[in-house]
Amino acid sequence: MTTASYRIRPAGPDDAAFLADVTLTATRAQGRLPADFDEADWRGGFEEWSLESIDDPATDLNVIELDGRPVGRLRISRTPGSVELNGIQLHPDAQNRGIGTAIITELQSEAATRGVPLELHVERDNPNARRLYDRLGFTKTGEDGAEDVMQWTQLWNAAVAKRYDTPGTGMFAPEVLGPTVDRLAELADGGRALEFAIGTGRVAVPLSERGVPVSGIELSNAMIAELRTKVDETAIPVVVGDMSIVRAPGEFSLVYLVFNTISNLLTQEQQVECFRNAARHLSPGGRFVIELWVPELRRLPPGTPATVGVAEPGYILLDTYDVLNQHVVSHHFHFGEGTQAELGRTPHRYIWPAELDLMAQLAGFTLESRHADWTGSPFTADSPSHISVYRLSTT
Ligand SMILES: C[S@@+](CC[C@H](N)C(=O)[O-])C[C@H]1O[C@@H](n2cnc3c(N)ncnc32)[C@H](O)[C@@H]1O
Repeated sequence: MTTASYRIRPAGPDDAAFLADVTLTATRAQGRLPADFDEADWRGGFEEWSLESIDDPATDLNVIELDGRPVGRLRISRTPGSVELNGIQLHPDAQNRGIGTAIITELQSEAATRGVPLELHVERDNPNARRLYDRLGFTKTGEDGAEDVMQWTQLWNAAVAKRYDTPGTGMFAPEVLGPTVDRLAELADGGRALEFAIGTGRVAVPLSERGVPVSGIELSNAMIAELRTKVDETAIPVVVGDMSIVRAPGEFSLVYLVFNTISNLLTQEQQVECFRNAARHLSPGGRFVIELWVPELRRLPPGTPATVGVAEPGYILLDTYDVLNQHVVSHHFHFGEGTQAELGRTPHRYIWPAELDLMAQLAGFTLESRHADWTGSPFTADSPSHISVYRLSTT
């Protein structure tokens, strides 16, 4: 990783003292050292931890150099589902020169290329760092002790949000939305509904117009901004954050998560947490409804980890599978008459219905019904997707 005059190189055992030094200097300059701080004790622990990190293949611990001089520390972890920025500290002399911004921008482009989110934690008593992450488009997705958890993802940005709605056609066609809203209104059973990943309100707005009080949780401020062009927060209140973590006020008889969006959570752990979070919002006997596609593993020829989902004039959908990590990346190619195409990629963790039922069971749900669509067609071995209704016990 190299731009302008800074360089990033892997840390070695000889760097342990410097890494402790720069972290301490940066934290002290921000006035964030506790009154009872024991410097010798802290340095010993930090150096030992740095040496362990250098030996840990899951962690990438680096020294940031400016004009050949070490000026900072950068710790990154890479998992199949994310890039995690575990720490970045710059000596005060090297701050305000755009180095932090440049490094984070590079990590954003790495995450975008891999189609995964960039995640980080920021101490709540570090407003400068928080301002930087806000400016770079990170969204708070949860809390972890004294830190906020933040995430940046290239998906669902302002451009995507602006062209998401297709009134009257596609996923907004009355024949798609009508049965969806009818069934959800019935399942709400006179109570309040909460939509996880509410987006621009494709479903929530007509459901609320039907008289069902609806709230939402949503990660993308850009998607919420589009929703706000239709209804204000008194009509449909929304909490910004990760649907597997954050709490929306109140108790609900229905939580629903449609349009395959549970697969946007890229680990099994997050998906199970999403079920647990649904359970936390529901009153006894409440329902959690999931709309999800059935993974097309039977269409994968041996040795060819991809399927063509759609091939029509102007659009090709190619899904590439990583069956080891249970990931699929959908590649959407849009093109016109010329030779150029526009590519958009969305990563998912696919879930077989049986695994979904087990996740539900772990969170205290049982399967009440599974149909192939919102009108109640039978679910068969050939159904491409399903509407699964899970129910919390009534006690
Ligand atoms: C396919 S859209 C669905 C939006 C809406 N539910 C609908 O049916 O039109 C997916 C939405 O999920 C949101 N999303 C993705 N991951 C999320 C998460 N972990 N927590 C909350 N929202 C998330 C995205 O920002 C996006 O708005």
